[in-house]
Amino acid sequence: MYPVDWLEERSGLIGGIRYFLLRKVPAETNWFHTLGSATLTAFLVQAITGVILAMYYKPSPDEAYESIRHITDDVTLGWLVRGMHRWGASVFIILMFFHMARVFLFGAYKYPRELNWIVGVLLLALGMFEGFTGYLLPWDQTSYWATVVGININGTAPFLGPFIASLLRGGSEIGTDTLARFYSIHMLILPGAIAGLIALHLYLVVRLGVSAPPWSDAAAREAAGTADADGEVPTTARPGLTRPGPRGGIAR
Ligand code: HEM
Repeated sequence: MYPVDWLEERSGLIGGIRYFLLRKVPAETNWFHTLGSATLTAFLVQAITGVILAMYYKPSPDEAYESIRHITDDVTLGWLVRGMHRWGASVFIILMFFHMARVFLFGAYKYPRELNWIVGVLLLALGMFEGFTGYLLPWDQTSYWATVVGININGTAPFLGPFIASLLRGGSEIGTDTLARFYSIHMLILPGAIAGLIALHLYLVVRLGVSAPPWSDAAAREAAGTADADGEVPTTARPGLTRPGPRGGIAR
């Protein structure tokens, strides 16, 4: 495997990938633990289909609708790519909620994974903003009026409302500047921010380890601090982390 060894010797990349993919996970890990990776897959599908759509889409009020029609009716497999991107957006959001529900119901947001929950909340907010900005792009009646409603809802926020509404519109009316602004946010700013946060999210998953389901043997022994048959106290968290004790209590 000369090329692989060559790369490994100079970059350590192969070792890094092995460290990332060949991690130990709790014995009782189940299908619910795949929801995070499913969300990641949905995001990657959105990124790939989005790049293809951007090759044909024209973000101006005069051309946007026609360019989408052209993608759907004329471009080879355009209907498929557009359909995947449109339906995939809902799949992405729904999977995010399912993944969050899994994390919540398993109590996986608790120490030491609170920071990863916070990163997740940011991902959820940015993911939904991604959906909102994308919805305007076809520039048809539904997308136009949905955006009017969305911007007006933001406009009712206390103190900052009018400022946020005018920032989103790029002026006092929804028009050319709004479409250009939404397009830029949708295909540059948000995907970049989401990709960066996903990298941080996965770094924390690898650093802290995946939590065991709360009903599992490993979780029970971890909580009680009892050893298994091999004499090891199971821990899914990184060694060296301090468990918080009750307030005023003596730390174990
Ligand atoms: C773009 C969206 C997201 C992606 C791609 C993503 C991806 C992942 C992956 C691959 C894992 C490890 C496997 C698993 O537990 O499923 C994970 C774990 C985790 N995620 Fe997410 N996630 C996203 C959104 C969220 C959201 C919205 C939250 C909560 C608000 C969240 C909180 C967590 C937490 C706390 C863990 C650690 C779970 C554990 O150790 O058992 N994530 N995420």
